[in-house]
Amino acid sequence: MKVVAIVGSIRKESYNMQLAQFIQKRYTEKLDLEVLSLKDLPMYNQDIENEAPQEVLDFKAKVKAADAVLWVTPEYNGTVPGVMVNAIDWLSRVDKVMIGKPSIIMGASMGNLGTVKAQLHLRDILFSPGINSPLLSGNDVYIGAVHTKFDAEGNLTDEGTVKFLDVVIDNFLNWAKKYI
Ligand code: FNR
Repeated sequence: MKVVAIVGSIRKESYNMQLAQFIQKRYTEKLDLEVLSLKDLPMYNQDIENEAPQEVLDFKAKVKAADAVLWVTPEYNGTVPGVMVNAIDWLSRVDKVMIGKPSIIMGASMGNLGTVKAQLHLRDILFSPGINSPLLSGNDVYIGAVHTKFDAEGNLTDEGTVKFLDVVIDNFLNWAKKYI
């Protein structure tokens, strides 16, 4: 299955980016995962949505070509970071490439609650009419105190979390294939 990961942090040492890259490496046999960065995505502007910049067209083409999307979100001030919302705004307009495409949400934060609030908000946003993405339920991945769970090479070293991810990825692939 071809999946794109959309990561809501653009900082160099992002734990959420490390999580996406860890998933890419660990499940390479069962999952063709491309990790997308939102670093160069321009700000959404309705004035230019019909002649969108090339970076937007490229981003949307990659999402369109994917069978499913993995959203990996940090939590900023109790909600979804602006770069993630910006990406969603582009995806929700003109050719609405997310409609009907299955998604899973994960997130990592330094706080103990591991992006619970951001994920609840993101879940709600992804049900909006311009996105309308079926979401896997019952497999919530909240990684709290993330700064204690990765080593210097970007490997997730927390055994319990890795074991849980193994199960969630299998559940996701089994569930998402019925939408392809
Ligand atoms: C944060 N952080 C944070 N953490 C949290 O658990 N709940 C929150 O509401 C916030 N709010 C917040 C706002 C802003 C502007 C920043 C910069 C940070 C801390 C956050 O979990 C931490 O910086 C993570 O490392 C961010 O994810 P990445 O960039 O490592 O992927």
